[in-house]
Amino acid sequence: MNKFFIQTWGCQMNEYDSSRLIDLMINTGYEQTEDITEADVVILVTCAIREKAQDKVFNQLFSWQHKKQYKEGAVICVGGCVASQEGEAVLKRAPMVSVVFGPQTIHRVPNMVEKVVSTGERLVDVSFPEVEKFDFLPSPKSRGHATAFVTIMEGCSNFCSYCVVPYTRGAEFSRNLREILDEIRTLTAQGVKEINLIGQNVNSYNGKDEDGNTVTFAELLYHVAGIEGVERIRFTTSNPHDFTDEIIQAFADLPQIANAIHLPVQNGSDRILKAMNRKYDRNRYIDVVTRLRQVRPDIYISTDFIVGFPGETDEDFEQTMDLIETVKFDQSFSFIYSPRPNTPAAKMEDKTPLMTKKERLYRLQAAINNQAQQYSREMLGSVQKVLVDGLSVRDAEELSGRTDNNRTVNFKGSPELIGSFVYVKITDVLTHTLRGELIEEQQ
Ligand code: SAH
Ligand code: SF4
Ligand code: F3S
Repeated sequence: MNKFFIQTWGCQMNEYDSSRLIDLMINTGYEQTEDITEADVVILVTCAIREKAQDKVFNQLFSWQHKKQYKEGAVICVGGCVASQEGEAVLKRAPMVSVVFGPQTIHRVPNMVEKVVSTGERLVDVSFPEVEKFDFLPSPKSRGHATAFVTIMEGCSNFCSYCVVPYTRGAEFSRNLREILDEIRTLTAQGVKEINLIGQNVNSYNGKDEDGNTVTFAELLYHVAGIEGVERIRFTTSNPHDFTDEIIQAFADLPQIANAIHLPVQNGSDRILKAMNRKYDRNRYIDVVTRLRQVRPDIYISTDFIVGFPGETDEDFEQTMDLIETVKFDQSFSFIYSPRPNTPAAKMEDKTPLMTKKERLYRLQAAINNQAQQYSREMLGSVQKVLVDGLSVRDAEELSGRTDNNRTVNFKGSPELIGSFVYVKITDVLTHTLRGELIEEQQ
């Protein structure tokens, strides 16, 4: 049987696409391997969000070649956002590659591979076809995981001025309600208990129900919570600009929604938010957080920051530091701004020295890490609802799971508990993980 090897980088959208591509390859008759040297098909799913992520792709392709890790005659495929952005150029830059596919053409990969094998041609298809890729994918497999991603919308039409995603993933479109709910039911029937609804801007979801009526994101949350077996719901990513009162009400009504939310703010300065084309200001952000905390007083809020956007002054940066103090974010992601091809921000004047940007990033990360550590310390002695992911990475005698606020906790327990929710008392707070004791098993 022919074997395939797949390596995925980037966001949850890519992880989701890859898991569906794995299902499709297996359905087509391939076997997945973790050993690239025995793979007949090598697939690299890529991310273009920052320059570094993009450079990594070509470095990896040549490094595999340099180490002679490609099997003789292996078909090398590149997908994801770099493939979408670069198209034909990938073939020129990386002669070993013979298939280039995009986020919307994953369903065509097996056919493309077959054609390459039979004709020796090199193929590029990074189009955004009218017909949804979902129509051509087999039903999803949980592969033993208790948590699963489900894409509810594709693409993005927000055009934040720094961002490459609208160009690599195409215009926003929502999957219809029935398709999403069916997919979730297929997953819960396999033991999945936690559903992470994903999209670049989930709260602008506007899919159709079977009568052709539009369903909002808040309504979708109620539908998902109504599915038997769905015990925890997360969603990423939501944009503060269209975070409606109805979504906040869903947090009040639906205990299944995790007590944590990822709500990227990007910057604390109104001037910079405007230049970023984020369509909200700092007051709007604080208002959403305040209203969320009215219904969930102890909700954990994580975020994304871009530091050193073109024209960011010391004063702007202090506004970001001030926002961190005001909101008291939990663990967050932050990066120095990276100019991306064809985006409006790439043409903006950027006089801030790299050293200054690095200093700002360092200060910001120190403040954020401090707050995240403080939240972790406050969890000491508390009892947490934990979804058991598997055996602990460090110690196979222990289990590892995730709390509501997305922290990894390791504790002693029987492997039979993998895939279920348990209650764990937190006994120790380490830098990146927690330790605990199992106190109760949920039936
Ligand atoms: N759709 C999500 C974000 C998706 S991209 C949202 O709008 O919030 C994930 C994160 O990458 C962004 O939140 C942003 O912080 C970061 N990012 C995007 N483009 C970037 C760029 N050009 N330079 C640095 N960071 C960037
Ligand atoms: Fe990029 Fe903005 Fe769309 Fe997020 S909302 S993917 S940052 S354009
Ligand atoms: Fe990267 Fe594309 Fe996701 S650029 S962050 S893989 S949408």
